[in-house]
Amino acid sequence: MLYTITMRTEKKQEDFNHIVTAGQFDRDDLNKLFGRADAMRKVFERGSETAIKRKRRQLAQKHLGSRIATLFYEPSTRTKLSFEAAAHVIGAGTLSTENARDFSSAIKKETLEDTIRAVGTLADAIVLRHYEDDSAERAAAVSPVPVINAGSGSNEHPTQALTDLYTILSTKQQLHDLNVVIGGDLKHGRTARSLAQLLSLYPGNQLTFVSTDELQMNCDVLTALNDQQTDVTTTNDLHDALPQADVVYWTRLQEERTDNKELRSHFAIGTQELALMKPNAVLMHPLPRNHEIDSNVDNDPRAKYFNQVRYGLYVRAALLDKLL
Ligand code: NCD
Repeated sequence: MLYTITMRTEKKQEDFNHIVTAGQFDRDDLNKLFGRADAMRKVFERGSETAIKRKRRQLAQKHLGSRIATLFYEPSTRTKLSFEAAAHVIGAGTLSTENARDFSSAIKKETLEDTIRAVGTLADAIVLRHYEDDSAERAAAVSPVPVINAGSGSNEHPTQALTDLYTILSTKQQLHDLNVVIGGDLKHGRTARSLAQLLSLYPGNQLTFVSTDELQMNCDVLTALNDQQTDVTTTNDLHDALPQADVVYWTRLQEERTDNKELRSHFAIGTQELALMKPNAVLMHPLPRNHEIDSNVDNDPRAKYFNQVRYGLYVRAALLDKLL
């Protein structure tokens, strides 16, 4: 079933405990979360040894004995390790299963709902990555503890979008009045779908979606952005879009979700494309990358994709700190 996003419905009390969609956040939530992430980053990256120890003790006093389960039915490097590292930052423990599609009771035909009910009795929060578009919603509906969507099929990846937005804030010092080019496989790329929703919260942002006709952003997101009165353009002309961009957010072809290989030969960012970008633009990517960003671009100061990983650690630590 294709789960269609719905934007900014009235918040229910129970929504605060689960992170299911980027659409559940408002600007106030994001301000608070990024404030918390900033405070942690400041201490852990720039604080004195005494300040770091004090912060660790303070977080551990709150979270010692808490357990975060990472339940991953799809492959992951960054997201899983980032959540586990974030748990360490706040002094919580982790329970972890990867490749759960083959190595959990899923192979014995257990439903996701039953697995979540069981894991929810062992952990204080469940970080879930699953191949079905509606998995996070279904899990949240039955879970006795907070569920955090760490990627649901080709639908959403809200904590990557939080990471991406926090990276933009930290590098551009603003989240409004930005020209943001988002490109790649937008039809199946869950990070782009979630990020677009968050960017639409801020006034003056112009979004340009660059892809082939086949792999353009789906109508559900376009409609939601239109409802938010966000300025949106869709194009397949990358070179035309790049010179205006303050932020270029690039994504890979989701080969595991489509047989369409057309994108492979399109839209690679190399030195020629970099030359078209503003000197103060930022180039981001949720990673992993394939051929869509040439590795000889990596040393350009505008390339921020490896910095994104680090920002994600503090965003997730801040999120876990709040949820627990
Ligand atoms: C992304 C994902 O899994 O959706 N990666 C990530 O979590 N950082 C992007 C992708 O797989 O292309």
